[in-house]
Amino acid sequence: MPLLSVKNLRAYYRTEAYGISRTVRAVDDVSFELQKNEIYGIAGESSCGKTTLIKVISGSIKPPLRIEGGTMTYTFDGRDVDIASVAPEVMRREIRWKEISYVMQGSMSILNPVRRVRRIFRHVVDTHQGIDDKRKFEALCREHLKKLGLPPDILQAYPHQLSGGMKQRIAIALATIFRPSLIIADEPTTALDVVVQRGVLQLLKDIQAESSNTVLLVTHDMAVHANVADRVAIMYAGTIVEEGPTEVIFGAPQHPYTQHLIASLPVIGDKGTRSALPGAPPNLASPPSGCRFHPRCPMAKEICRRVVPSMIQLDTLHRAACHLVGEREEA
Ligand SMILES: Nc1ncnc2c1ncn2[C@@H]1O[C@H](COP(=O)(O)OP(=O)(O)O)[C@@H](O)[C@H]1O
Ligand SMILES: [Mg+2]
Repeated sequence: MPLLSVKNLRAYYRTEAYGISRTVRAVDDVSFELQKNEIYGIAGESSCGKTTLIKVISGSIKPPLRIEGGTMTYTFDGRDVDIASVAPEVMRREIRWKEISYVMQGSMSILNPVRRVRRIFRHVVDTHQGIDDKRKFEALCREHLKKLGLPPDILQAYPHQLSGGMKQRIAIALATIFRPSLIIADEPTTALDVVVQRGVLQLLKDIQAESSNTVLLVTHDMAVHANVADRVAIMYAGTIVEEGPTEVIFGAPQHPYTQHLIASLPVIGDKGTRSALPGAPPNLASPPSGCRFHPRCPMAKEICRRVVPSMIQLDTLHRAACHLVGEREEA
């Protein structure tokens, strides 16, 4: 039984400016499943729709973003809820933070600099649980921080006194205080230097290993996925183009976009320049016809311009959406 099952999800931004309406198809027919006890990575260049996808999954949808179709079935306590239609009250009281928690992109910079860390914890705990007893609250926080290897005295600090890495750890500590079943982290290491990144990723890995919960890790950084994820999905222009176990994605990538992302990773000892893929992801207000990757694909053929490739199951856990892959399979 999957923890979360997403089927044919579409979520668009519909905006209106100077009388011109615009639809940005940021998530366009996305399907995947999250299992219990795994780290699932979502990769892809900037503006491919990664953040939009997890906003929708975590139930944090605000206009102009709207769900246009599909289902997101989340299973907990032996029942199924559709995230798209669950009552806001149930979401707030039973699901958010306790079941699904979300470390937002840039969350370390939204920690209020003039409030002590303790007050930030207090706010979250009060909103979602309410512990009247001051000593119980203090004990909960201290024990949780200690378990994560963070000094409990940090509760006394103001965020501006802390390094970027420490702030990110606090954002993660905050998101995990109620031991959620699903932790979603959006670009948790992007603003950090490499040494600090390692510590933050290790913290996420430790939390996952300790509680056997599920981590959905979103980052454009393929090196992070290689080191942390059990499975990886590659997103391009609002769709998933390939998904598989991490070793398959890196060892035998099938989609030209995935192949390109991997080829552009730096290799130790290699002083040559890496090949950069020309161009940029398309404007999602008017995505290309057929395969959305075709204008940048070195292997594009006539059919790629016309026909949207369907997802082809290559192996139990490996699938890719590319006409060339289909051809190879049929041959
Ligand atoms: N509030 C918004 N209104 C309109 N378009 C948006 C908004 N937020 C994001 N987008 C667009 O949605 C697309 C996907 O963005 P995003 O989900 O942030 O991608 P990623 O996280 O992969 O960088 C982009 O084209 C972006 O410009
Ligand atoms: Mg993003």
